[in-house]
Amino acid sequence: MAEEKIIPKHDHETLKFPDGFLWGAATSAHQVEGNNISSDWWEWEQKHQPQALRSGQACNQYNLYEQDFDLAKSLNHNAHRLSIEWSRIEPKEGEFDESEIEHYKKVLKALKDRNFTVMLTLWHFTLPKWVADKGGWENGATALYFERFVRRVVPEITEYVDLWITLNEPGVYIYETYIERAWPHSKKSLFGQIKTFLNLTSAHKKVYKFLHSNFPAGKPVGIANNILSFEVSHKHSIKEQIAVWLNDLFANHLFYMFTRGTHDFFGVNYYFHIRLKDRNIIPGANSLMQQTHDVSDLGWEIYPEGIFEVLTDLADDIPIYITECGIASTNDDRRNRFLISYLQEVARAIKAGVNVRGFFYWSLLDNFEWHLGFEPRFGLVEVDYSNLERHIRPSALVYTDIIQHNGIPHSLLRFIGHTVQAEEVLEKRQKEIKKEIK
Ligand code: FCB
Repeated sequence: MAEEKIIPKHDHETLKFPDGFLWGAATSAHQVEGNNISSDWWEWEQKHQPQALRSGQACNQYNLYEQDFDLAKSLNHNAHRLSIEWSRIEPKEGEFDESEIEHYKKVLKALKDRNFTVMLTLWHFTLPKWVADKGGWENGATALYFERFVRRVVPEITEYVDLWITLNEPGVYIYETYIERAWPHSKKSLFGQIKTFLNLTSAHKKVYKFLHSNFPAGKPVGIANNILSFEVSHKHSIKEQIAVWLNDLFANHLFYMFTRGTHDFFGVNYYFHIRLKDRNIIPGANSLMQQTHDVSDLGWEIYPEGIFEVLTDLADDIPIYITECGIASTNDDRRNRFLISYLQEVARAIKAGVNVRGFFYWSLLDNFEWHLGFEPRFGLVEVDYSNLERHIRPSALVYTDIIQHNGIPHSLLRFIGHTVQAEEVLEKRQKEIKKEIK
């Protein structure tokens, strides 16, 4: 696209990102593929969830992946994060389904054919049913089963993968299973929680070691961790300070402390800003959310400064990728503002010296949001579930605009201020980009 077309004359400044920055979107297998019938989630949905909250055919990406990758390409993404589904590849203990391995080879090759940098997640919340029947992550053997699966599948697909994510959000998995008790195998068990945590750390370490010792040309390995920004009310009591310290330790740092030296990068999933009230000191409790601020359709506070805070707090000598960040909203103007304001804070963190190398918006398309079903709309691309048609949302074009500039043009920054002029500029840009990508 000729730059003059999309940069208005008065637009001198662009808030630039580093060269080679990865721009993409993220998905996970169970949330988009459909008919993931050998997984524990599938079984749980049939038993415990009403029809409307079951994953069913989801977005049918299992069959429509080429179309979805074409869409991401047309939107100028240069990277993509996705996961492979253990329960498809090893539906029965020790029995690997060659045709499913072939399927994932095709999927990953389709990404490479389109020149994407590929970030692959090896475990994103779902387990094969047989693993769950043996106790899931509470069972110490699960780390070994997981390693066996990884050893079998990785040599087949490694040529198509650039960055590995061993595990997605171990903390959220534990929180939803043992504290919120909204997910499969949920129960009240401190002991179960601790075993699950330790087994997940062990699984990560084993797979990290395997990926590095067997593939010396080594591609970076990390996890995608849900990192929250915490804040106290303004009373500044000692109790509150301790609560923030504890929350930050448990939610943001504990997994890294137990797996030190086995992360080539930090993968940050950023969604939450939590304001603590002095009577609540339990890590992660939902009641801590402040309701008086602007929120997404899920009630999650919109707080761009939080991403600056977590990035500067985590900053170390290893790179950071924002492996997920997004908003559930049927109001696309809100998603426009979300993208611009959150990315502005990412740029600010980079300016402050944080080594951020990429951003993966959650999600490329609307999808199955776990126990909440299909109502939350996170997609850059809207999915019409009556016929599975995909429709690019205007906010996807704002993201494209940013990608094409490898930065945020000044006029977009003004859009955060909701001025009429800024909205006109934005609409004009969206129209131009739409024509361009057709
Ligand atoms: C994250 C999960 C992802 C998606 C988003 C909204 O916690 O990793 O699968 O559900 O939240």
